[in-house]
Amino acid sequence: MILIVGGAGYIGSHINKELTKQGYQTVVFDNLSSGKKELVKWGEFFEGDLGKIETIREVFKKYPIEAVLHFAAFKAVGESVTDPQKYYKNNVANTLNLFEVMKENGVNKFIFSSSAATFGEPQYIPIDEKHPTNPINPYGETKLIVEHIMRDYDKAYGMRYISLRYFNACGADLDADVGEWPGSSSNLIPLVLDAAIGRREDIKVFGNDYETPDGTCVRDYIHVTDLAEAHVLALKKLLDGGNSEVFNLGNGKGFSVKEVIEAAKKVTGIDFKVTMVERRAGDPPVLVADATKAKEVLGWKPQYADLETIVSSAWKWHRLVSSFLANS
Ligand code: WQD
Repeated sequence: MILIVGGAGYIGSHINKELTKQGYQTVVFDNLSSGKKELVKWGEFFEGDLGKIETIREVFKKYPIEAVLHFAAFKAVGESVTDPQKYYKNNVANTLNLFEVMKENGVNKFIFSSSAATFGEPQYIPIDEKHPTNPINPYGETKLIVEHIMRDYDKAYGMRYISLRYFNACGADLDADVGEWPGSSSNLIPLVLDAAIGRREDIKVFGNDYETPDGTCVRDYIHVTDLAEAHVLALKKLLDGGNSEVFNLGNGKGFSVKEVIEAAKKVTGIDFKVTMVERRAGDPPVLVADATKAKEVLGWKPQYADLETIVSSAWKWHRLVSSFLANS
């Protein structure tokens, strides 16, 4: 069985769907602090907390776990600056608990949800795996520290891992079975959709004087279903005896904030209010991935790279859940 830690969250729930579709038996381990029981639609569910090591021991006792995928981390960059303790404790110390129990049980296959935040300010674009890692916030530090721990655990204990560094994860399952819970994210696309649905008054654009084609920041938006596919390929590689690796996951194509907003206006048919404001601290003008390695080594082929598919899938889910929440 495959253990999905944090499988009741945005990305973990999509991985659960994909693994189930491809014939794997899954068990979701989640403390539901931000995850939702409603997003656990496949496999088994075990309510537990990485901060309480006994609960990890229990899930390993109850199910024959072969491999672990880990999504149970905090991800708000701004909050990691104001409350680093919360981030180091959960994203690093609690991950050590998970590794400890894996080791006790002889489980040595691990897929880690890492981030482009490990790179910090880009020195060149597109960013490949050889780009220097120099995080500029505690969130990115926590991801890099876990990558270093995995490297050392591999050498010392033979823990095989694949670390997947996502660029801007976005979109929702095309069948709208799962998605990002509205109101739970500070990322651009969910906020734009909140403006469209009327939950926010407007969308604020953080700076339009960057050295980019239209003056707004450019990001590499990668659909969550494409991310899910990469996780399944990575898992197969480890189960087949593959070695530890790090991969960047992105489309290699950038879209500006303005382009995202235009796509959202087109998809939703709503002319919501857009307000230009000051730059946000710590935002690089352009972040784009070079994901050649994932394509070559894993055979990964992102399929949902166009903005309309990304935004329309997220919009379908956003409306569905918003009306469910309004009626409950
Ligand atoms: C995207 C663009 C903003 C909100 C972060 C983390 C990264 C990864 C993904 C998790 C930027 C602009 C945003 C708004 C705006 N995290 N924006 N108005 O900052 O690229 O990446 O999330 O693993 O590590 O840093 O994502 O969605 O916050 O912003 O204009 O209200 O949209 O300036 O250019 P970001 P984002």
